[in-house]
Amino acid sequence: MGGVWTVPVKHRILDPLALGKTTLPNRIIYSPLAGCSDLPFRSVSARYEPGLIYCEMVKMEPLVRGDATTFHLLDYEAGMHPIGGQLCGSKPELAGASARIIEDLGFDVVDLNCGCPVDKVTKDGSGSGMLRNPERIGEVISNMVAAVKIPVTVKIRAGWDDDSINGAEITRVAEEAGAVAIAVHGRTRSQAYKGPANWDHIKACVDAATTIKVFGNGDVFDGESALRMMDETGCDAILASRGTMGAPWIAEDIQRAARGEQPKLRRLEEIRQGLLDHFMEQVRYEPTRRALISMRRVGCWYIKSTAHTREFRHKISRAQSVDEVKDLICNFSFDA
Ligand SMILES: Cc1cc2nc3c(=O)[nH]c(=O)nc-3n(C[C@H](O)[C@H](O)[C@H](O)COP(=O)(O)O)c2cc1C
Repeated sequence: MGGVWTVPVKHRILDPLALGKTTLPNRIIYSPLAGCSDLPFRSVSARYEPGLIYCEMVKMEPLVRGDATTFHLLDYEAGMHPIGGQLCGSKPELAGASARIIEDLGFDVVDLNCGCPVDKVTKDGSGSGMLRNPERIGEVISNMVAAVKIPVTVKIRAGWDDDSINGAEITRVAEEAGAVAIAVHGRTRSQAYKGPANWDHIKACVDAATTIKVFGNGDVFDGESALRMMDETGCDAILASRGTMGAPWIAEDIQRAARGEQPKLRRLEEIRQGLLDHFMEQVRYEPTRRALISMRRVGCWYIKSTAHTREFRHKISRAQSVDEVKDLICNFSFDA
């Protein structure tokens, strides 16, 4: 009797993606997250093999000035490749020198931030302020492209507000200026992080693109939403953002979904272990006092909605030593 062959399901999110001279092993990308995606965060994330991990944004001015704190944000280790650095700034005259610093540090990709909604950033026209000046985006990207051999990408929002949606226009500008990819967050600047991302705006950029690759961004929180974003918008890759916080394993979840496997149930013991690993990376990276402060933030990401969550958060915020935090993570009872 002839055997019946079932063709293994394999979603295109698992395919490699060529970005200029860099090839990503898959199309699952971890977003830049200011104040979050530090070296410990990226260290635990890299274990789950996303296709690319971006560092949090750094400002062009302090970077070219040689500011040590800014350089510290760009720390990484060999196992984190491919890795992207992200620049925030609006001055074309600083763009080339800033991009070259990122390249010289050994990064595989350099990105331009055109999405940050914070007033402090937009007031000088940087971040999402750039959305109001597409011509400037083109100038800044051109100068970055002229200065480096690594691929240049740009990350935008759909527009400044609902009355000025211009992602498709910026996609063409970025392509013309030589960017190899554009990440499109389907919210406007006015929305900040509120409400659902509108994936139609991502689709509009896919339709406007000729050669430039489009990364979809907004509301990817699991395998199902990652695959659905690619299927519904036709984008070339996805960016997981808040979905990576307290879930460094989201790339593994997405890869499982892409192979048609059942979602992996993350039991409390595994979450405890994930948090402990993250904490130990934090302790390895920074002075103990700082690592304890970092846990106020990181601890909350992992322990999201369990009984006694509030008490756990309270205790971890007040812990005075590494052993105290370890004990809390390993032994705190979440049972009612
Ligand atoms: C705490 C935080 C920090 C962020 N920092 C950056 C950043 O440095 N650069 C950037 O381009 N986007 C940044 N973003 C935006 C995210 O990368 C992403 O575009 C946004 O969260 C939408 O995706 P999501 O709905 O999947 O979270 C940040 C978002 C958050 C919540």
